[in-house]
Amino acid sequence: MSATLINGSVIREEILSELRAETEKLKAEYGKVPGLVTILVGENPASMSYVTLKIKTAQSLGYNEVQDSRPPDMSEEDLLSLIDRYNKDDSINGILVQLPLPKHIDEKKVLNAIDPDKDVDGFHPVNVGRLMIGGDEVKFPPCTPAAIQEMIIRAGVETKGAEVVVVGRSNIVGKPIAIMMMQKGPGANATVTVVHTGSKNLDAHCLRADILIVAAGVPGLVKPEWIKPGACVIDVGVNRIGEKISKKTGKTIAILSGDVDFEPACERAGFITPVPGGVGPMTITMLMKNTLKSFKYSLGLL
Ligand code: GUN
Repeated sequence: MSATLINGSVIREEILSELRAETEKLKAEYGKVPGLVTILVGENPASMSYVTLKIKTAQSLGYNEVQDSRPPDMSEEDLLSLIDRYNKDDSINGILVQLPLPKHIDEKKVLNAIDPDKDVDGFHPVNVGRLMIGGDEVKFPPCTPAAIQEMIIRAGVETKGAEVVVVGRSNIVGKPIAIMMMQKGPGANATVTVVHTGSKNLDAHCLRADILIVAAGVPGLVKPEWIKPGACVIDVGVNRIGEKISKKTGKTIAILSGDVDFEPACERAGFITPVPGGVGPMTITMLMKNTLKSFKYSLGLL
């Protein structure tokens, strides 16, 4: 293997210790800590494990973490009034409603009900607009694209004038990372192409990329010969391709694969993120960063 691995777990620990230190400093100065509420409706096992991880991470940083779990038959009206209550609660800086929601609840209506200044997921249309404008307008960049950009920066990869190709056009990864990489500023200022299921010549586009960001949700979509030698490859795919028994716990666990054919890709890429252990561990970290940022806004520090 010749590519340098961009290790999400190592970068996560670096950022979490920065956030922990800043939280302690602000607590000593203002006697307050960031407040994050995680609202989980129902018992979707994947959502429960994501929320548990978010809660544990927030607690490890010294945040005030409010866990609000509700039954699967909670009405949309009740959820909207719960959000309204947290919107008005000054001790809460971030509101996270775990997705997906049960089918009888309109997800768009719920996300739009969150105060944009507490929307640490960055999903509210106001925050999508702020991201589009760029610069100081941006309050809460969405967590997965923010994680990708942070990893590129910390790996020391040059982005200014670089050819960035994004594979995938989802609202939570493809579209926002394309916007972020084209803006003026550090870790950006790139020339961006977005390709998707309607694109022709996927291989030729990928081959031009100095930085290739793949978020298509198709295991092994990107072949090693599509990678420009020395390119930086960010694999956002988390695909369950099977199951195995954990040697540690004896429990059944998922076998995960990215969107890039990893082993042979390592022979061509200059930098690469693994799956698991790449972008995944970083996403919750960026949620914590947004929550601290929201707290700092509330203190008038930003
Ligand atoms: N479900 C899966 N990923 C996410 C996320 O990033 N935010 C929220 N709110 N729900 C999710």
